[in-house]
Amino acid sequence: MPPETEKVPEAEKLTESDPSVSAEDTGPVFQRKPASKKKLLVWAGVVVLLVVIAIAVGVGVGVTRHRHSSDDVPATAENTDWRLDTATEYHISPKWNSSEPPTTRVYNFTVSEILGAPDGFERTLTVVNGKFPGPLVECNEGDRLVINVLNNGTNATSIHFHGQYQNGTAYMDGTSSISQCPIPAGHSFTYNFTVADQWGTYWWHSHFGPQYQDGVFGPVVVHSPTEDALLRDQYDEEYIVLLGDWYHSLADAYMEKYLSSGNENTEPVPDNGLINGAAFFNCSDVDETCYQDQAARTVFNFVHGKTYRLRLINVAAFAEIDFSIDDHELVIVEADGTNVEPLTVHKMRTAVGQRYSVLVTANQTATDTFWMRGQLNTYCFAENNDLLDPNTLAVVHYVADPANATNITTTLDASTSAWGNTKNNVLCKDLNTTDLVPSISEVAPDADIFFRLDTSFQIKAYAIDLAYINGTTWVPMSGSSTLYSAFNQLSTQSGNYTELNATGVVPSKYYENDKHQYMISIQNRSVVDILINNLDDGAHPFHLHGYKFWVLSFGQGTFHHSKYDKLDKKNPMKRDTLQIPGYGWALIRFVADNPGIWPLHCHITWHMEAGLLMQFQVQPDKIAQMNPPDEWAELCEL
Ligand code: C2O
Repeated sequence: MPPETEKVPEAEKLTESDPSVSAEDTGPVFQRKPASKKKLLVWAGVVVLLVVIAIAVGVGVGVTRHRHSSDDVPATAENTDWRLDTATEYHISPKWNSSEPPTTRVYNFTVSEILGAPDGFERTLTVVNGKFPGPLVECNEGDRLVINVLNNGTNATSIHFHGQYQNGTAYMDGTSSISQCPIPAGHSFTYNFTVADQWGTYWWHSHFGPQYQDGVFGPVVVHSPTEDALLRDQYDEEYIVLLGDWYHSLADAYMEKYLSSGNENTEPVPDNGLINGAAFFNCSDVDETCYQDQAARTVFNFVHGKTYRLRLINVAAFAEIDFSIDDHELVIVEADGTNVEPLTVHKMRTAVGQRYSVLVTANQTATDTFWMRGQLNTYCFAENNDLLDPNTLAVVHYVADPANATNITTTLDASTSAWGNTKNNVLCKDLNTTDLVPSISEVAPDADIFFRLDTSFQIKAYAIDLAYINGTTWVPMSGSSTLYSAFNQLSTQSGNYTELNATGVVPSKYYENDKHQYMISIQNRSVVDILINNLDDGAHPFHLHGYKFWVLSFGQGTFHHSKYDKLDKKNPMKRDTLQIPGYGWALIRFVADNPGIWPLHCHITWHMEAGLLMQFQVQPDKIAQMNPPDEWAELCEL
């Protein structure tokens, strides 16, 4: 059974953030909880001392001031300062202690625009702390995360922590126009929440329009003694592997054409794929600025005999990505923060937003370089892109001393072939997501309420092709957010929520008469069944905020209610992002134990922008009692 949360944790008022902490804009600062005044003084003293030393040796300039996009955007991407050293930054220390007492971990994020060339092709990127891809956020279950966001970019932003429950802090979910008003350029906002009752692999990303695909994303890893007891003795080292697609222009540049009349849901096709933010590209294919020496591949350095936990995160805007490593089996042990019974595959499909942990043993002897593959599935692309080589590659390199080995390369090659190719002469063992079985078994409780959502793309007025859920297409509220609006209505309503509590669609007057907010209200801590019918020919990776849901059943065609009594509820897979096939359906179930407003949406950025999003308003009486910080409300009053 999911944890009881009848008691909503008191939301903690934000304390003024320590200026000595927020003045530094790279890397995490660890701060014990509670931070006493004395400790803050000591911290301030330490920081002053560091700054003095830094200035004394003449390298302190970057440490003592905020970044400003104007003076930080280099004229070209020719130097590679913009590239995050993922071999170091995405390597989880084997010494990490998941049993430490809960603490507060502070991260400072400065959003800005830079010129970068992840695959050699120079373009403007929107990034955090001047680097691409974004920094790792790492903590233990039970820790408090404090993320100070300063928006030095030219557009608004908000940072969402994908898969984090935010139970009791729905206003920290980071979803523009839903859980908050976006952070305008030049402003800041502090995310402050406790990570409770969950662990595993997650990610953070901008939730303002399609902004994350311009570079505003990074991994989140939550450690837990519970998971370590299950898994920790099965691997030696762990790395994060971000699987992405990549466009050569800013996302906004595509939006207009995509949503224009006569364009029948022809999504922009990516120009490349990236593994940990890098990939090869042939610069001679384009006339624009392109640095061939930066068209490089990520190298994962393995030591023979060791076992690695790779945390895969599909951070793409659009593409399904098939992951594999030539000649190496993958043992799946986690999906979306749910530990699963070990499942061995050769190749596995990842949908946008999904995460998987796989164990890989460096047990080969024939050679010491192997291709790691992130194959973009082009069959879902409506158009051709001649620039795109969908077979994104990185290198797995067996070395004696990883600390002194190169971790990005333009020259290192492999001659291995993909699983399933004739050379290997084996049948390729693909991941069938129905084979995933949670290792901590849990029976799904019976449902109290049932909703059906029909999703489709429809050509309506002016021949504009938009996405609809039960006849409504989502358009972000402007100048407000649904949670802000609901909170204002509910908290002044002295306990009478009858109309809002009615099971079903919330009247739009609660959302400033905005007909584009399709909202279903769930009154109590009910067990909710959602049947999602995908009436479109394309597959959609649906993501629900604030929860993990049980995947009770899915298929092609239509769901017959006769199946309802025959569902296997013994130990169904539980996750937060599920790919629903074209003309298919899925029946999912969740316990509405988390008050707030939670979107369910397709994670393909183009589709979300076309309106493929609806919202659940859960436990309105508890929403009324929330205690968001003043700066949260102020974002809607700017
Ligand atoms: Cu990964 Cu609504 O988000």
